[in-house]
Amino acid sequence: MSGYVLAIDQGTTSSRAIVFDATQKVIGSGQKEFKQHFPKSGWVEHDPEEIWDTVTSTIKEAIRTAGIKASDLSAIGITNQRETVVVWERESGKPIHNAIVWQDRRTASYCDKLKRQGLEKTFTKKTGLLLDPYFSGTKLSWMLANVKGARTRGSKGELCFGTIDTFLIWRLTGGKSFVTDATNASRTLMYNIATNEWDRDLLEILRVPEAMLPQVLDCAADFGVTEASILGAEVPILGVAGDQQAATIGQACFQPGMMKSTYGTGCFALLNTGKDIVRSKNRLLTTIAYRLDGETTYALEGSIFVAGASVQWLRDGLKMIEAAPDTGTLAENADPSQEVYLVPAFTGLGAPHWDPDARGAIFGMTRNTGPAEFARAALEAVCYQTRDLLDAMHKDWRSDGKETVLRVDGGMVVSDWTMQRLSDLLDAPVDRPTILETTALGVAWLAGSRAGIWPNQKDFAKSWARDCRFEPTMDEATRKSKIKGWKDAVRRTLSEG
Ligand code: G3P
Repeated sequence: MSGYVLAIDQGTTSSRAIVFDATQKVIGSGQKEFKQHFPKSGWVEHDPEEIWDTVTSTIKEAIRTAGIKASDLSAIGITNQRETVVVWERESGKPIHNAIVWQDRRTASYCDKLKRQGLEKTFTKKTGLLLDPYFSGTKLSWMLANVKGARTRGSKGELCFGTIDTFLIWRLTGGKSFVTDATNASRTLMYNIATNEWDRDLLEILRVPEAMLPQVLDCAADFGVTEASILGAEVPILGVAGDQQAATIGQACFQPGMMKSTYGTGCFALLNTGKDIVRSKNRLLTTIAYRLDGETTYALEGSIFVAGASVQWLRDGLKMIEAAPDTGTLAENADPSQEVYLVPAFTGLGAPHWDPDARGAIFGMTRNTGPAEFARAALEAVCYQTRDLLDAMHKDWRSDGKETVLRVDGGMVVSDWTMQRLSDLLDAPVDRPTILETTALGVAWLAGSRAGIWPNQKDFAKSWARDCRFEPTMDEATRKSKIKGWKDAVRRTLSEG
């Protein structure tokens, strides 16, 4: 038997592995959460060894539940939390420090320093990104400055830098492949998205030795073959993409103007802009959506740092709910007369504000405010923030009248109440697909099509199917007043507000 594709989805809070059969049906899966380390306020780290352990154990679990053997797999695709930085020894494969996670704000003052030197324009022009601690470059720079001997060892080629995809490929191939793909590279603040190469000027500014950087490949390419001793068979790794780009592919947003929004730990909206590098005037990012056969497709991206994470906070921090799905039901029963706003700036605010120093705030509480109003405020915050992103996108991108409907995915979209509220607050329809495993599906398509066992892009796009379209029903006056309240809450939360 063969014809199966394994997708590894290494996310911010858990590692997942999913086995698809040749008809793109999920036939086995595994998932494991791992520990989040918060060594100081605003710092977030992961233990790369724990990530590796959870990845290998979930792969085994997925293969076992699928009832197949590793040798039945035709291809592996890897998708991952982006921007998170790992540095390891080339010789031993041992990390020199915990991974510094995309949410980590430790380099906020370094970013400010670079901004004061007037360098933001240079970074934005070359990378499409902004000077914010979110991206890998300043995190890597921090590691090189703070781990003894790292910079010298890096320039001697003794250390390897990678986003999570690179680290996993290195481990899975027994150190034979040191590679990444164009989408992950485009999030590092060191990659020139126009020339498609590491940018020497930026490396110099950040003091990063080029010898540490992986080779950058297309999203569907030969990334290496797994060591037989790890999974029990040699399997080719044929697809790689950052998780948000993989979701864009899984949602079949292949035409310019198509957009998707994924609600995981954070929320990330991507708008396909085709071959054009669209420069945002509204603090959105320009990024690589995918690179196939050497051709780059670009996207505008809006990144929100907290979406599902605020539901997690209600559950684990405030202990207001027992399980995440309770949030929608609670929100539905909230008192309509209470106008409570939660601005979940737990790790600063992302697009379009980019304020790393802002912190979370809640407004409008009364003595009657309880868990239901908190739940509604948390879910509505995600909707308002999506609206802020889409407003910015509409200003940056001319649709020429060919509006496409926002496609949504991620854990939060199972809640009908949340999706209806999203549509109401956007004043636009929202499409939920039948397959909600969009991220894994996207990278499985990259690997499966490269292996020649999955359909080509056109046929894959045709197989996208809608489960439900949510249409706006809220009256204009209510929407306007709610949005005004949100804008006011954000203004009061900004660090220089
Ligand atoms: O840029 C960060 C993003 O890739 C994390 O995604 O799914 O872990 O929220 P997620």
